[in-house]
Amino acid sequence: MASKIGTIGVLTSGGDAPGMNAAIRAVVRRAISQGIKVKGIYQGYKGLLNAEITDLDARAVSDTVAQGGTFLYTARCPEFRTLEGQQRGAEVCREHGIDGLVVIGGDGSFAGAGKLAELGINTIGVPGTIDLDIACTEYTIGFDTAVNTAMEAIDKVRDTSTSHERCSIIEVMGRHAGYIALWCGIANGAEDILLPETYDYDEQTLINNIIECRRRGKKHHIIINAEGIGHSASMARRIEAATGVETRATILGHMQRGGSPTCKDRVYASMMGAMAVDLLAEGRSNRVVGYRNGDWVDFDIEEALKMQKHLPDYMLRVAKALTI
Ligand code: ADP
Ligand code: F6P
Repeated sequence: MASKIGTIGVLTSGGDAPGMNAAIRAVVRRAISQGIKVKGIYQGYKGLLNAEITDLDARAVSDTVAQGGTFLYTARCPEFRTLEGQQRGAEVCREHGIDGLVVIGGDGSFAGAGKLAELGINTIGVPGTIDLDIACTEYTIGFDTAVNTAMEAIDKVRDTSTSHERCSIIEVMGRHAGYIALWCGIANGAEDILLPETYDYDEQTLINNIIECRRRGKKHHIIINAEGIGHSASMARRIEAATGVETRATILGHMQRGGSPTCKDRVYASMMGAMAVDLLAEGRSNRVVGYRNGDWVDFDIEEALKMQKHLPDYMLRVAKALTI
């Protein structure tokens, strides 16, 4: 069936995530294979407003599948939150013959895509964030790589922590979401996991736990602290003073957002990028691609943004049980 979509635009927006390049590559090649042209928009919505746009052919995405970051660059763009900004964005799409737009990013970027859809631009969102905090999907591009990067780094800190019989507070990314912290907490065998969703700021519980673990003969004490709780350095000073156990803080920071994507991130990002193109080719708009219960799915953007996501209760209980 001939597609009514002649040209698709693609942009990455918000925090970058490993696997975004694989998603862009899939958009480009899936579209070209269906006779659709592709334009890359640099720097997210900021680049859209400035019409920073380039033609992408199949060769333009050669050797990108294994690269971290996003070769289209990304940005946060306050102007796009305004109606004037959104109208200008829709106008630029029309001026450049963009009939459909794939937006790779998080909830904020999807909100922007929804506004463009209201203004008549066909849009599809693809979930890209290391935080795994998009409610409509069990998978987001970049989480798998980021959590493996964090896990490997924490293993290294654990080695030296054990040698010196220290307590280590290791801060991982996640301002509002504790998925990286929870997964690393389990994967790295942490004694305590501090999650923005559940932490009660009762340091005495931590202190008691360190003293109790020492009594039971543990040689180190790993505390995974999510960025949203933060203050790892001052926490370390207070814990050392209260327990007498030498304590160090390590903040992993943006290294978690970089690096070559894992196989899972490359494959899932490719599937989602391709699916975004297929949806546009079918004449769909205002949708977000997701992965749920073993299936590739899509949702209305507004419905997706209204959904709530909670850390799985069973996983929290198991994580706690494994720290004894
Ligand atoms: P993420 O997409 O990772 O959630 P942000 O929340 O920073 O990241 O959003 C990325 C960009 O999406 C913002 O800089 C802004 O340009 C756009 N955006 C965010 N929220 C809205 C909104 N409510 N309406 C329109 N555009 C938005
Ligand atoms: O959304 C991804 C994320 O890495 C969060 O975990 C973190 O809080 C935030 O982005 C950091 O953003 P920035 O790159 O602006 O410091």
